[in-house]
Amino acid sequence: MGREFIDMFDEWAETYDDTVTGQDPQYKEVFDKYNEILQAVADAADGYTLEFGVGTGNLSEKLLAKGLDVTGIEPSKEMREHASRKFPQLQLVDGDFLSFPVPGHEVSAIVSTWAFHHLTDEEKEQAISAYAKLLSKGGKIIFADTVFSGAEGRSKLIQEEQDKGHDRLVKDLTTEYYTTMQVLRNIFQTHGFHVTFKQMNRFVYLITAEKA
Ligand SMILES: C[S@@+](CC[C@H](N)C(=O)[O-])C[C@H]1O[C@@H](n2cnc3c(N)ncnc32)[C@H](O)[C@@H]1O
Repeated sequence: MGREFIDMFDEWAETYDDTVTGQDPQYKEVFDKYNEILQAVADAADGYTLEFGVGTGNLSEKLLAKGLDVTGIEPSKEMREHASRKFPQLQLVDGDFLSFPVPGHEVSAIVSTWAFHHLTDEEKEQAISAYAKLLSKGGKIIFADTVFSGAEGRSKLIQEEQDKGHDRLVKDLTTEYYTTMQVLRNIFQTHGFHVTFKQMNRFVYLITAEKA
């Protein structure tokens, strides 16, 4: 479920690291401060950690460097192969935000970067509802992703990118399921989380949700 964009990621796997290091001008600002943002997510994680949408493993590397016990979940075969080549020590499984092998013990942190927007708002709520049951008390969901400040912020950002001729980015922003801060806040609060948002670059927010 929620796997409708996987062919694109299979094709992108080999050049993905070039994009996140700013070599594609259309996506330069989306991935601005990439390493700093990954580090902020890793800094907030503790204990047994599930990571969704691992991609080429750049966040996993920071989680492993911190000495955390991590299970990476990634639906794209090509991305999994790429991440495994870079980090053979990473425990990596085929799965997605909604369908994944449920760990036999308590989870302290659930993390993901640049990926949660692949779920519709309805699917986002299903995922958060499932994670609320998996996490221990005080457990955290830490995501970094593009979030619109609201309907007006959405139109403004898309118009600005259109004016720059960033056609591929505009297509992403209008066809994937990027949502607003208010929608995410409601979902997290409904499922018993205290949530905060911190803007990290023009597009991306650090979303930290703690289970009460
Ligand atoms: C833009 S990349 C981000 C990769 C990595 N997290 C990073 O920050 O560089 C998005 C990743 O999410 C994965 N993805 C797409 N749909 C997904 C889903 N439904 N569940 C989990 N991961 C998904 C893609 O295969 C891809 O690896």
